[in-house]
Amino acid sequence: MRKSLVAGNWKMYKTPRESIEFVKVLKDSVKVYSDRDILICPPFTSLVPVSDILKGTPIKLGAQNVFFEEEGAFTGEISTRMLKDTGVSYIICGHSERRNIFMETDEIVNKKVKKIISSGITAILCVGEKLEEREKGNTFNVIERQIEKCLEGIKDTAGVVIAYEPVWAIGTGKNATPEQAEEVHSFIRGLIEKLFGKDFAEKILILYGGSVKPENIDSLMAQKDIDGVLVGGASLKLESFLRIIDYKK
Ligand code: 13P
Repeated sequence: MRKSLVAGNWKMYKTPRESIEFVKVLKDSVKVYSDRDILICPPFTSLVPVSDILKGTPIKLGAQNVFFEEEGAFTGEISTRMLKDTGVSYIICGHSERRNIFMETDEIVNKKVKKIISSGITAILCVGEKLEEREKGNTFNVIERQIEKCLEGIKDTAGVVIAYEPVWAIGTGKNATPEQAEEVHSFIRGLIEKLFGKDFAEKILILYGGSVKPENIDSLMAQKDIDGVLVGGASLKLESFLRIIDYKK
Protein backbone atom coordinates (compact mmCIF):
# COMPACT_ATOMS: atom_id res chain seq x y z
CA MET A 1 0.00 0.00 0.00
CA ARG A 2 1.57 3.31 -1.08
CA LYS A 3 1.21 6.29 1.28
CA SER A 4 -0.16 9.13 -0.81
CA LEU A 5 1.22 12.67 -1.01
CA VAL A 6 -0.76 15.89 -1.24
CA ALA A 7 1.68 18.63 -2.23
CA GLY A 8 1.14 22.36 -2.65
CA ASN A 9 3.38 24.20 -5.11
CA TRP A 10 2.95 27.88 -4.27
CA LYS A 11 4.99 29.02 -7.29
CA MET A 12 5.83 32.76 -7.09
CA TYR A 13 3.09 33.61 -4.59
CA LYS A 14 3.12 34.74 -0.93
CA THR A 15 5.63 36.92 0.88
CA PRO A 16 7.32 35.54 4.02
CA ARG A 17 4.69 37.31 6.13
CA GLU A 18 1.80 35.92 4.10
CA SER A 19 3.34 32.45 4.22
CA ILE A 20 3.69 32.57 8.01
CA GLU A 21 0.08 33.64 8.38
CA PHE A 22 -1.08 30.80 6.12
CA VAL A 23 0.87 27.95 7.72
CA LYS A 24 -0.04 29.02 11.24
CA VAL A 25 -3.70 28.44 10.42
CA LEU A 26 -3.00 25.40 8.24
CA LYS A 27 -1.17 23.52 10.99
CA ASP A 28 -4.01 24.12 13.44
CA SER A 29 -6.74 23.12 10.97
CA VAL A 30 -5.24 20.15 9.19
CA LYS A 31 -6.37 16.62 10.04
CA VAL A 32 -3.68 14.00 10.57
CA TYR A 33 -4.01 10.96 8.30
CA SER A 34 -1.93 7.81 8.48
CA ASP A 35 -2.43 7.08 4.77
CA ARG A 36 -1.23 10.40 3.34
CA ASP A 37 1.60 12.91 3.65
CA ILE A 38 1.13 16.64 3.29
CA LEU A 39 3.76 18.89 1.75
CA ILE A 40 4.04 22.57 0.98
CA CYS A 41 6.60 24.14 -1.33
CA PRO A 42 6.74 27.90 -0.71
CA PRO A 43 9.12 30.36 -2.38
CA PHE A 44 12.74 30.31 -1.13
CA THR A 45 12.28 33.46 0.94
CA SER A 46 9.59 31.77 3.03
CA LEU A 47 11.39 28.49 3.76
CA VAL A 48 13.14 29.45 7.00
CA PRO A 49 10.20 31.04 8.83
CA VAL A 50 7.76 28.40 7.56
CA SER A 51 10.12 25.62 8.62
CA ASP A 52 10.17 26.98 12.18
CA ILE A 53 6.37 26.93 12.33
CA LEU A 54 6.06 23.44 10.84
CA LYS A 55 8.47 21.84 13.34
CA GLY A 56 6.66 19.09 15.22
CA THR A 57 3.70 19.09 12.81
CA PRO A 58 2.93 16.42 10.20
CA ILE A 59 3.31 18.95 7.35
CA LYS A 60 6.48 18.55 5.33
CA LEU A 61 8.47 21.26 3.60
CA GLY A 62 9.73 21.33 0.03
CA ALA A 63 11.48 23.71 -2.36
CA GLN A 64 10.48 24.55 -5.92
CA ASN A 65 13.90 24.53 -7.54
CA VAL A 66 17.63 24.04 -6.92
CA PHE A 67 20.94 24.30 -8.76
CA PHE A 68 23.02 21.15 -9.22
CA GLU A 69 26.37 22.48 -7.96
CA GLU A 70 27.37 22.31 -4.31
CA GLU A 71 28.53 25.94 -4.05
CA GLY A 72 30.45 28.54 -6.02
CA ALA A 73 30.15 31.62 -8.19
CA PHE A 74 26.59 31.01 -9.38
CA THR A 75 24.84 34.31 -8.77
CA GLY A 76 21.21 33.89 -7.85
CA GLU A 77 21.31 30.14 -7.37
CA ILE A 78 20.62 27.91 -4.35
CA SER A 79 22.19 24.54 -3.48
CA THR A 80 20.74 21.39 -1.96
CA ARG A 81 23.00 21.95 1.07
CA MET A 82 21.41 25.35 1.69
CA LEU A 83 17.93 23.95 1.25
CA LYS A 84 18.56 20.96 3.48
CA ASP A 85 19.66 23.30 6.25
CA THR A 86 16.24 24.98 6.13
CA GLY A 87 14.49 21.65 6.75
CA VAL A 88 13.46 20.85 3.20
CA SER A 89 12.87 17.14 2.48
CA TYR A 90 11.53 17.43 -1.10
CA ILE A 91 12.58 19.49 -4.12
CA ILE A 92 10.52 19.93 -7.29
CA CYS A 93 12.46 19.72 -10.54
CA GLY A 94 11.61 19.61 -14.22
CA HIS A 95 8.45 21.66 -13.77
CA SER A 96 7.09 22.75 -17.15
CA GLU A 97 7.41 26.41 -16.11
CA ARG A 98 11.14 25.85 -15.55
CA ARG A 99 11.42 23.94 -18.82
CA ASN A 100 9.46 26.46 -20.91
CA ILE A 101 10.23 29.85 -19.33
CA PHE A 102 13.74 29.17 -18.04
CA MET A 103 14.80 26.80 -20.85
CA GLU A 104 15.71 23.88 -18.60
CA THR A 105 16.48 20.79 -20.66
CA ASP A 106 16.16 17.12 -19.74
CA GLU A 107 19.97 17.11 -19.30
CA ILE A 108 19.81 19.92 -16.73
CA VAL A 109 16.89 18.25 -14.96
CA ASN A 110 18.87 15.00 -14.88
CA LYS A 111 21.78 16.77 -13.13
CA LYS A 112 19.35 18.27 -10.64
CA VAL A 113 17.67 14.93 -9.91
CA LYS A 114 21.07 13.32 -9.27
CA LYS A 115 22.16 16.13 -6.96
CA ILE A 116 18.89 16.12 -5.04
CA ILE A 117 18.93 12.36 -4.47
CA SER A 118 22.59 12.27 -3.48
CA SER A 119 21.84 14.97 -0.91
CA GLY A 120 19.29 12.70 0.76
CA ILE A 121 16.32 14.75 -0.43
CA THR A 122 13.38 13.38 -2.42
CA ALA A 123 13.16 14.71 -5.98
CA ILE A 124 9.69 15.43 -7.34
CA LEU A 125 10.33 15.03 -11.05
CA CYS A 126 7.67 16.72 -13.18
CA VAL A 127 6.88 15.47 -16.65
CA GLY A 128 4.08 16.27 -19.05
CA GLU A 129 3.14 16.82 -22.65
CA LYS A 130 2.05 20.05 -24.35
CA LEU A 131 -1.35 20.29 -26.03
CA GLU A 132 0.06 19.97 -29.56
CA GLU A 133 2.04 16.90 -28.52
CA ARG A 134 -1.12 15.27 -27.16
CA GLU A 135 -3.08 16.21 -30.28
CA LYS A 136 -0.44 14.62 -32.48
CA GLY A 137 -0.69 11.41 -30.45
CA ASN A 138 2.78 11.87 -28.95
CA THR A 139 1.91 11.89 -25.24
CA PHE A 140 3.54 8.56 -24.37
CA ASN A 141 6.65 9.31 -26.46
CA VAL A 142 7.15 12.65 -24.71
CA ILE A 143 6.68 11.17 -21.25
CA GLU A 144 8.98 8.26 -22.03
CA ARG A 145 11.74 10.57 -23.33
CA GLN A 146 11.47 12.90 -20.32
CA ILE A 147 11.58 10.06 -17.80
CA GLU A 148 14.39 8.15 -19.50
CA LYS A 149 16.55 11.25 -19.89
CA CYS A 150 15.83 12.82 -16.52
CA LEU A 151 16.49 9.53 -14.69
CA GLU A 152 19.53 8.55 -16.75
CA GLY A 153 22.37 7.14 -14.64
CA ILE A 154 20.17 6.78 -11.55
CA LYS A 155 20.39 3.34 -10.01
CA ASP A 156 16.93 3.20 -8.45
CA THR A 157 13.88 5.37 -7.78
CA ALA A 158 13.99 5.21 -3.97
CA GLY A 159 14.42 9.01 -3.72
CA VAL A 160 12.13 9.92 -6.59
CA VAL A 161 8.48 10.93 -6.87
CA ILE A 162 7.08 11.54 -10.35
CA ALA A 163 4.49 14.23 -11.00
CA TYR A 164 2.55 13.92 -14.23
CA GLU A 165 1.49 17.45 -15.15
CA PRO A 166 0.04 17.81 -18.64
CA VAL A 167 1.10 21.32 -19.66
CA TRP A 168 -2.34 22.09 -21.12
CA ALA A 169 -3.92 21.48 -17.71
CA ILE A 170 -1.65 23.76 -15.66
CA GLY A 171 -3.33 26.95 -14.49
CA THR A 172 -6.01 26.61 -17.16
CA GLY A 173 -8.86 25.27 -15.04
CA LYS A 174 -8.98 22.39 -17.53
CA ASN A 175 -7.83 19.27 -15.69
CA ALA A 176 -7.13 15.94 -17.35
CA THR A 177 -10.09 13.65 -16.76
CA PRO A 178 -9.38 10.96 -14.17
CA GLU A 179 -9.32 8.41 -17.01
CA GLN A 180 -6.86 10.47 -19.11
CA ALA A 181 -4.60 10.88 -16.08
CA GLU A 182 -4.84 7.20 -15.12
CA GLU A 183 -3.88 6.15 -18.64
CA VAL A 184 -0.60 8.10 -18.39
CA HIS A 185 0.05 7.16 -14.76
CA SER A 186 -0.28 3.50 -15.59
CA PHE A 187 2.06 3.99 -18.56
CA ILE A 188 4.60 5.68 -16.25
CA ARG A 189 4.42 2.82 -13.75
CA GLY A 190 5.02 0.35 -16.58
CA LEU A 191 8.01 2.38 -17.74
CA ILE A 192 9.49 2.46 -14.23
CA GLU A 193 9.06 -1.32 -14.09
CA LYS A 194 10.91 -1.65 -17.39
CA LEU A 195 13.73 0.66 -16.25
CA PHE A 196 14.09 -0.20 -12.56
CA GLY A 197 12.11 -3.38 -11.90
CA LYS A 198 8.77 -4.36 -10.39
CA ASP A 199 9.63 -3.54 -6.80
CA PHE A 200 10.44 0.12 -7.55
CA ALA A 201 7.43 0.40 -9.86
CA GLU A 202 5.14 -0.75 -7.06
CA LYS A 203 6.69 1.64 -4.54
CA ILE A 204 7.10 4.83 -6.57
CA LEU A 205 4.58 7.62 -6.03
CA ILE A 206 3.08 9.12 -9.16
CA LEU A 207 1.30 12.41 -8.53
CA TYR A 208 -1.10 14.18 -10.84
CA GLY A 209 -0.93 17.97 -11.30
CA GLY A 210 -2.88 20.47 -13.38
CA SER A 211 -6.00 22.29 -12.20
CA VAL A 212 -6.54 20.04 -9.18
CA LYS A 213 -9.36 21.48 -7.10
CA PRO A 214 -11.91 20.44 -4.48
CA GLU A 215 -14.37 19.52 -7.27
CA ASN A 216 -12.11 16.94 -8.93
CA ILE A 217 -9.82 15.64 -6.18
CA ASP A 218 -11.97 12.66 -5.15
CA SER A 219 -12.38 11.30 -8.66
CA LEU A 220 -8.67 11.73 -9.40
CA MET A 221 -7.64 9.98 -6.18
CA ALA A 222 -10.03 7.12 -6.95
CA GLN A 223 -7.72 6.04 -9.80
CA LYS A 224 -5.50 3.06 -9.16
CA ASP A 225 -2.19 4.65 -10.20
CA ILE A 226 -2.75 8.19 -8.88
CA ASP A 227 -0.86 8.34 -5.61
CA GLY A 228 -1.36 11.99 -4.82
CA VAL A 229 -1.46 15.44 -6.33
CA LEU A 230 0.75 18.46 -6.96
CA VAL A 231 -1.52 21.45 -6.53
CA GLY A 232 -0.81 24.99 -7.72
CA GLY A 233 -3.55 27.61 -7.49
CA ALA A 234 -5.84 25.69 -5.15
CA SER A 235 -3.04 25.27 -2.58
CA LEU A 236 -2.87 29.03 -2.04
CA LYS A 237 -6.26 29.21 -0.37
CA LEU A 238 -6.73 27.51 2.95
CA GLU A 239 -10.25 26.28 2.36
CA SER A 240 -9.55 24.63 -0.98
CA PHE A 241 -6.22 23.15 0.11
CA LEU A 242 -7.79 21.68 3.26
CA ARG A 243 -10.56 20.10 1.19
CA ILE A 244 -8.01 18.60 -1.20
CA ILE A 245 -5.99 17.18 1.73
CA ASP A 246 -9.25 15.76 3.04
CA TYR A 247 -9.92 13.79 -0.18
CA LYS A 248 -12.12 10.73 0.03
CA LYS A 249 -11.23 7.56 -1.85
P1 13P B 1 -2.44 24.53 -11.06
O1 13P B 1 -2.96 23.62 -9.98
O2 13P B 1 -2.55 25.98 -10.70
O3 13P B 1 -3.01 24.18 -12.39
O4 13P B 1 -0.85 24.26 -11.16
C1 13P B 1 -0.40 22.96 -11.25
C2 13P B 1 1.07 22.95 -11.08
O5 13P B 1 1.80 23.41 -11.94
C3 13P B 1 1.62 22.37 -9.85
O6 13P B 1 3.01 22.23 -9.92
